[in-house]
Amino acid sequence: MTRGVATWLLCLVGLGAACGLLAGAQATEVGQTIYRRGMLPSGEPLQAEREPGMHIEGATAACINCHRRSGLVMKEGRRTIPPIAGSYLFHPRAANADELDLPFVEGMRADRDPYTEETLARAIRTGIGADGRSLSYLMPHFRLADAEMAALIAYLKQLSPGRVPGVTRSVLHFATIVTPDADPLESKGVIEVLTRFFDDKDRYTRAESPRLHSSRRMMFKVNRRWELHVWRLTGGAESWEAQLRAKLAAEPVYAVISGVGGRTWEPVQRFCEAEELPCLFPNQDLPVDRETDFDTLYLSKGVLLEAELIAHELRGRQDKTALHRVVQIYRAGDVGKDAAAALHAALRDDGMLVLDKALATGASGHELTALLAAAEPGDVLVLWLRTKDIAALGRPPGGLPVVYMSGRMGGLEHAPLPAAWRDITRMAYPFDLPDHRRVQVDYPLGWFRMEQIPVVAEQAQTDSYLVCAILSEAINHMVDTFVRDYLVERIEESLEHRIITGYYPRLALAPGQRFASKGGFVVHFAGPTGPRVLPDGGWIIP
Ligand code: HEC
Repeated sequence: MTRGVATWLLCLVGLGAACGLLAGAQATEVGQTIYRRGMLPSGEPLQAEREPGMHIEGATAACINCHRRSGLVMKEGRRTIPPIAGSYLFHPRAANADELDLPFVEGMRADRDPYTEETLARAIRTGIGADGRSLSYLMPHFRLADAEMAALIAYLKQLSPGRVPGVTRSVLHFATIVTPDADPLESKGVIEVLTRFFDDKDRYTRAESPRLHSSRRMMFKVNRRWELHVWRLTGGAESWEAQLRAKLAAEPVYAVISGVGGRTWEPVQRFCEAEELPCLFPNQDLPVDRETDFDTLYLSKGVLLEAELIAHELRGRQDKTALHRVVQIYRAGDVGKDAAAALHAALRDDGMLVLDKALATGASGHELTALLAAAEPGDVLVLWLRTKDIAALGRPPGGLPVVYMSGRMGGLEHAPLPAAWRDITRMAYPFDLPDHRRVQVDYPLGWFRMEQIPVVAEQAQTDSYLVCAILSEAINHMVDTFVRDYLVERIEESLEHRIITGYYPRLALAPGQRFASKGGFVVHFAGPTGPRVLPDGGWIIP
């Protein structure tokens, strides 16, 4: 229990002589718990009626479900729910939306009387709007004590758009983060894409002729230059959070975009979540899968998705009962370890026998051969190895019915898999197939050529380009409403309507989802040489 909630409880039971002191931060903390989690300070669930006789409570009744985290806007089908951030509720009546001195959001209402704290409490309890008319039946009626209501209203007030770090009158500041163990070539390629995209945007912003709009709302929208700050971390992962805090203090940014990680993104993610700083689609083979996190979005679940794809395949195999064991090989200190652990756990639940073998950091090809010898006839082999190890595989052990390998780690269709392995190997392929995505990646690849950006990590670089495009569109639609939560929400909302989705056949993020592409293929090589792969079946969403 947090301190704010504890004091609050004392108040409720009448022990606190200092109840009046539950001001400011504590009240908004209590309000936030009601708003986001549907939990009252007593720990009891929030109670509400949705339609007469339809009772809802707790997390299901939380305001966040319908008003999102920002309280700014939510689309339900074709209906737009109005903003409930304080400034939109309490602003004086205006002739039209353009006359409001507020950042534009869809669904904002100008032509109604401002709420007072009393009429707002009435709206939340009984569904009567500021003007005395009933709100739609979709807005539930909440049972809240006066003190709880006061805390909730205090929270709504501070949701209002205000000054946001990293946003100035003329510049939007963004950071991209590179961890010290990131692949140097990939980082260089990704940073180059981001830098050029920002330069290009900057040129365009300056070249644009002055806007002459009659509407005040449009005049508000200033064309801001984008500035990229490259935050390179050094040293051990335990020191990254402190480094990031120092960097953010020195160079406030609005959001973190793209970036490149290595073994783990955990400290970066923890930092972004603590700062409520959007962290948009880092290139990371092993993402952090934590349901409660909000600010970090990924294009894909990386090697963890591959583990799910392989588990799905193994479960569906006709010869499943004849399979002896599953033997996994990964390199110590690399992300394959976590992928192997995820697959191990999934298969154990299915009653399969699994043996994991780690190749020591720095161990040579000979040691890899020795590990392979552990595989007996009838075993399924799973390889969580990078291209260098894949190239050093030698000859496969005899009698293996099938080998699975990680596409992300092994180099996808360009994996340097020795010829003797190609027949028996199946690859987890969490992207669209090369033939299908050709049209999709044609544009970024053409742009790379034009900008003379060497393609050194095609997938990471096209992903980064895609992320820049997604961000650019989201910012354009936001007009001047630079609330950080709202940026994340706009991206979530727009993603599934995108036509250009790069390496992925489809992207979507429903509220609460953190991985935009949900599935993949299992593929095999079409012949003894060359990069042609064919799918074993259709797109799998495990
Ligand atoms: C199940 C969905 C849902 C939940 C949960 C919900 N609301 Fe609403 N709310 C709505 C809808 C829909 C409207 C728009 C009603 C209309 O347009 O008539 C609305 C409107 C409002 C309004 C009126 C805005 C205006 O401009 O008049 C306020 C204030 C409000 N909600 C506050 C809250 C608070 C505070 C919570 C949490 C305690 C909450 N709502 C939870 C669906 C919901």
